[in-house]
Amino acid sequence: MDRWIPVESTTIPGSDIELCLSRRNDDFAIRIAGQPGDLMNSRMHHSEDALAEFACARLGGIENARVLVGGLGMGFTLAAVLETVGASAEVIVAELVPAVVEWNRGLLGRCAGRPVEDDRTRVYLGDVADLLQQDPGKFDAILLDVDNGPEAMTHAGNQWLYSMAGLTKIFDKLRPESIATIWSARADRLFASRLKKIGFNVQSRTVRSRPGKGSRHTIFVAKKPCGE
Ligand SMILES: C[S@@+](CC[C@H](N)C(=O)[O-])C[C@H]1O[C@@H](n2cnc3c(N)ncnc32)[C@H](O)[C@@H]1O
Repeated sequence: MDRWIPVESTTIPGSDIELCLSRRNDDFAIRIAGQPGDLMNSRMHHSEDALAEFACARLGGIENARVLVGGLGMGFTLAAVLETVGASAEVIVAELVPAVVEWNRGLLGRCAGRPVEDDRTRVYLGDVADLLQQDPGKFDAILLDVDNGPEAMTHAGNQWLYSMAGLTKIFDKLRPESIATIWSARADRLFASRLKKIGFNVQSRTVRSRPGKGSRHTIFVAKKPCGE
């Protein structure tokens, strides 16, 4: 079997954590230097696609839908959102690491069909937490896949997103009956109950990394009730 070949590397802003992009034939992987396993692998994106499907299923018929995707990665979640929403939608993808956006505009982009180049996509270079604080509008869906799960591994600042304060902000930024989905490598009952305390109706869904096989990931599906 061919070996993984390093292609590019970069540092996560505000940290000394190194992200490395590697390639093996047509497959790509993004890893954190010095840690086992992949942060992302282009062969396994079933749960990243499901993150979009669970949040955006009802948005196809909604005019001018606004969707926020936290974390571009390899673009699979963004591509799955774009497949679901209509032509008038605006899909904002917040990405902390400028090189990840460059990789998606280059070689890596073909993995998910170059979703950053879609006319409905707007790239926000920076922390999704800052965007949530600054953006004046509301969203029809908010999707977060910025870390390994609610215990923030790649970026210490991500703790806020999973805290009562961060989740309350997400609740406020959603229109009634809209959904936030949060990707996690594992189930987390405390996190699910935190979402419920804020007022969300919550389901924890288990999704495999590939259809019918591979690791089991958890997607928290948090729906804002009507009239809130
Ligand atoms: C696991 S990957 C996302 C994978 C993506 N769902 C996909 O389909 O390819 C996580 C991404 O989130 C980015 N990230 C981490 N913390 C972030 C933050 N606070 N704001 C925006 N992006 C962040 C990382 O640089 C990385 O590109």
